[in-house]
Amino acid sequence: MGRLEGKAAFVTGAAGGLGRSYVQRMAEEGADLVIVDICRPVDTVPYRLSSPEELSEAVEEVEALGRRVVARQADVRDRDALQEAYDAGLAAFGQIDVVVANAGIAPLLVDDRVQAWHDAIDINLTGTFHTIEVAVPSMIDADRGGSIVIVSSTAGLVGIGGASNGGLGYAASKHGVVGLMRTYANNLAPHSIRVNSVHPTGVATRMVADPVMAEFVAQDPILSEGSPNALPVDTVEPDDVANAVLWLASDEARYVTGVTLPVDAGFINRR
Ligand SMILES: NC(=O)c1ccc[n+]([C@@H]2O[C@H](COP(=O)([O-])OP(=O)(O)OC[C@H]3O[C@@H](n4cnc5c(N)ncnc54)[C@H](O)[C@@H]3O)[C@@H](O)[C@H]2O)c1
Repeated sequence: MGRLEGKAAFVTGAAGGLGRSYVQRMAEEGADLVIVDICRPVDTVPYRLSSPEELSEAVEEVEALGRRVVARQADVRDRDALQEAYDAGLAAFGQIDVVVANAGIAPLLVDDRVQAWHDAIDINLTGTFHTIEVAVPSMIDADRGGSIVIVSSTAGLVGIGGASNGGLGYAASKHGVVGLMRTYANNLAPHSIRVNSVHPTGVATRMVADPVMAEFVAQDPILSEGSPNALPVDTVEPDDVANAVLWLASDEARYVTGVTLPVDAGFINRR
C-alpha cells in the first residue's frame, strides 16, 4: 500500500524542478494530484520557467502511474485562478488532504531592478498565502485532518541572499513563509491539519543550474563568497527534497507540525 493511498494533493509550481519531483513521488505513493503552474515567463526572472508542454508531461507522468490528475495553468499571484484550479480538483476527488506551496522564483538580475523585490514577495510570499487560503476552508469542512507543506529555503532561516532587490526579496519572502507556517500551524492544529516548511540548500534545478544564475552569483561579492554545505555535495537532487515533502505529507509525520525542516546537507549547522 502506498504511503499516500486514498489521498489527494494540491501542488503549485508543479510543471518543473522540485514541483515535478514531488508530483511524481506522490503519485508513486498512491496520491491523486491537482497541479498548477504559471507556464510562462516572469519578466524579472532570468532563467526559464516551465512551459505548457511541461505541464502536459507532468500530467502524462501521473497518469502513467495510474493516478488521476487535474491540471491548470495558473499564477499563484491570481487568487481567483488558484481557487478555480483547487475547486476543480476538489470536485474531481471529493477532498484534498495535502497542500504543497512550492511555486517560487529567484529574480536575481545582473541589471538589478526594484520590480524584482515586488515579484519575489508577490509570488513567493503572497502566492504561498493564496495557496493555503484557497485550500483551508474545504479541508476544515472535510474534517479529515491534512498536511500543508511550504517550500522555503535555507534563505528562510539565515541571512543569505546578497544585496540586490531580488536577493533581498527572496530572503524576506522565504523568512516570511516561516511566519505563515508557524501561525497556520497553531490556527489549524485543532482541525488536525499540520503545517510545516522545508528548507533546501541548492538543488540542481534551472533556478540554480541555469548558466545565467552562475553569472549573477559571480558578480555578487556576498553570494560568491559562498558557504559550502557540510556534507561533500555542491547541490542536492530534487528527489532528496521530494522525499522530505512526502514524509511530511504522509501519516508517518502525523504528530509533526510547526517545524522548519532543513534538507540542506548541513549548510545551516555549519554556519
Ligand atoms: N533550486 C534550489 O536551489 C532551491 C533551493 C531552496 C528552495 N527552493 C525553492 O523551491 C521551490 C521550487 O524551485 P525550483 O528549484 O524547482 O525552481 P524551478 O524554477 O525549477 O521551478 C519552479 C516552478 O514554479 C513555477 N512558477 C514560478 N512562478 C510561478 C507562479 N507565479 N505561479 C505558478 N507557478 C509558478 C515555474 O514555472 C516552475 O515550474 C521554490 O519555491 C524555490 O524558491 C529552490
